[in-house]
Amino acid sequence: MSCYRDALVVVTGAGSGIGRQMCLQLGRQGARVVLAGRRAARLQVVQEEVARLGGSAVVAACDVTDARQVLQWTESILKTAGAVDVLVNNAGRGAYGRFELVAVDDHDAVIDTNLKGIIHTTHAMLPSMLERGEGQLVYVSSVLGQLPAPEHAVYGATKFAVNAFAESLRHELYGRGIDIVVAAPGLVDSEFAAASGRPVARFAKVPMKSAAAAAADVLRAMERRQHLAVGDRLSAAAIRLRRYAPKLFGWLFRHAFARLRDR
Ligand SMILES: NC(=O)c1ccc[n+]([C@@H]2O[C@H](COP(=O)([O-])OP(=O)(O)OC[C@H]3O[C@@H](n4cnc5c(N)ncnc54)[C@H](OP(=O)(O)O)[C@@H]3O)[C@@H](O)[C@H]2O)c1
Repeated sequence: MSCYRDALVVVTGAGSGIGRQMCLQLGRQGARVVLAGRRAARLQVVQEEVARLGGSAVVAACDVTDARQVLQWTESILKTAGAVDVLVNNAGRGAYGRFELVAVDDHDAVIDTNLKGIIHTTHAMLPSMLERGEGQLVYVSSVLGQLPAPEHAVYGATKFAVNAFAESLRHELYGRGIDIVVAAPGLVDSEFAAASGRPVARFAKVPMKSAAAAAADVLRAMERRQHLAVGDRLSAAAIRLRRYAPKLFGWLFRHAFARLRDR
């Protein structure tokens, strides 16, 4: 039996990709899912999909970059759906390209969504979890949170920050009943590339996981209460190489990205 049966699980970025697939899988397992994101129409489609699978989901649209909205959203969820057992911070975006060619507004939007977003949601939801002495906080980071990559400088910086934020909170909240899980997917086939301006054709030959497989990885990490779950073996090996042989890693990584650029 799923450990999330009857649990109230809030998922941000639930309208597409990994978030949508997590909601379908959680719904199938009998969790009560709260679907968050900016586009309510997309969330309603996912709500219907969860219902068709026999699950239960409610729509609670929210822009995680807006702290005041997040506070009202949290109060409304606590009032209408009850205590939140799990908060999955999955909403995210990138701004692909050479650093100086990407507009500063796009860099800002990446920071606002990926970093300020998790600060807003965690700040709003944590007090009620602490009051009950239980809860799980999940952060969907990225392997680029451990592998700084060309043309992803700000995105990678936000995912490094996500990892540091989660680790700091884990120390701070030790012994207070709050689980903190970080999942770090590698490349995933979703709307992320198009939304982030990543040239889809150039990356077409790079192995990618389906959003369903990436969602299953995140759920497994949640069930196992893993502190930091890296989504694929090649990335895990690259992270080790960067730690123990940084010069060799740097050469190989630059070479791999230069080949991608030439496509
Ligand atoms: N795809 C990859 O290769 C990959 C790899 C590693 C990690 N990740 C991470 O995985 C997570 C999910 O990405 P994905 O691949 O599933 O991409 P996706 O399909 O583009 O999903 C991102 C979701 O975030 C939501 N979102 C964006 N800005 C938001 C905001 N301000 N407030 C609330 N929701 C917002 C979007 O919905 P709305 O536009 O409706 O708000 C969208 O549903 C992200 O954190 C991403 O960084 C992705």
